[in-house]
Amino acid sequence: MRILLAPMEGVVDYPMRQILNAVSSSDRRCTNLKGIDACVTEFIRVNDHAVTNKVFYRSCPELLKAHTYPVRVQLLGSNPTALANSARTAAQLGAPAIDLNFGCPAKTVNKSRGGACLLDETPLIYEIVSAVRAAVPEDIPVTVKIRLGYEQRDSYLENALAIEKAGASELVVHARSKSDGYQPPAYWRYIGEIKQIIKIPVIANGEIWTVDDYFKCREQSSCDDVMLGRGLLAQPDLAIAIKAKLANIPYTPLGWSDIAVLVHQLLIDTSDLYPSKYTGNRVKQWLHYLQRHYPQAISLFHDIKRCKDRAIIAQRIKQDIGVKAP
Ligand SMILES: Cc1cc2nc3c(=O)[nH]c(=O)nc-3n(C[C@H](O)[C@H](O)[C@H](O)COP(=O)(O)O)c2cc1C
Repeated sequence: MRILLAPMEGVVDYPMRQILNAVSSSDRRCTNLKGIDACVTEFIRVNDHAVTNKVFYRSCPELLKAHTYPVRVQLLGSNPTALANSARTAAQLGAPAIDLNFGCPAKTVNKSRGGACLLDETPLIYEIVSAVRAAVPEDIPVTVKIRLGYEQRDSYLENALAIEKAGASELVVHARSKSDGYQPPAYWRYIGEIKQIIKIPVIANGEIWTVDDYFKCREQSSCDDVMLGRGLLAQPDLAIAIKAKLANIPYTPLGWSDIAVLVHQLLIDTSDLYPSKYTGNRVKQWLHYLQRHYPQAISLFHDIKRCKDRAIIAQRIKQDIGVKAP
């Protein structure tokens, strides 16, 4: 059974992937379990020209640095040739897999014929997946991420069949239409229908916030494998908690002071990566997700929400870690 960390543009960047993977592989809880099996980059937009090495290295610094987890490089676009050429470059740079995004609901992306709007163009999806499959070496998987449809939940079976026929290695299904946005519920049972008609592995995605949600999703979708996005941000050890439950291993979830250590780490890592005017923004964003599981995140957010000074933010976070601020 595998758990993938979902791609999230503007949220799950290199520092966040590192932190969530470190939690996921940490043996502090003595479970011997690896929570996250693979990650996906934020989407990389491909217009009419192939993406340059520089863009790939910026979105996926893991291509340059030693790391312990596989990161699929995600491409988004509608030009089969440009996507194929970009995929070839990513593979040459060392990407362990190429992922294609047919699920992004953003207006600007859909207007330029990318993301979820292609769900209404099954022949083009087929052409893109075939072209990308042909462009990268056979041992590099080409994976695909879709929603159930664009306006309606109506094109998922047709698209799944086309994606399999085009040679994709596996399919991630976000169990909503583009019009459903990110609002609950997720329609997991539709994924079960897909599973019945294709043979490639299917991974269920959407609205898994707790261990119980995992089991409900598994029952309705018949998928053991899942991709977790916001749920892992709200509870960074959710993947381990699910695997521990499956293995019948007792598991004590991370407490707030453990989480505060990670929040502090994100502050340091993102301050080094982004311009100083954005200092603290990623931390505040993460606290928004963490609030769902950890009420302490609310008061931390309240205390730092207007602050842009790294030292002051760090000092406040350290109060929650239980370390005396210098
Ligand atoms: C802020 C945000 C950014 C996202 N960016 C991407 C992206 O770059 N590529 C993609 O395929 N999906 C993207 N998604 C969708 C997620 O990967 C996932 O399918 C969705 O959040 C549902 O899963 P969840 O309920 O576990 O979060 C994004 C979602 C959010 C909320």
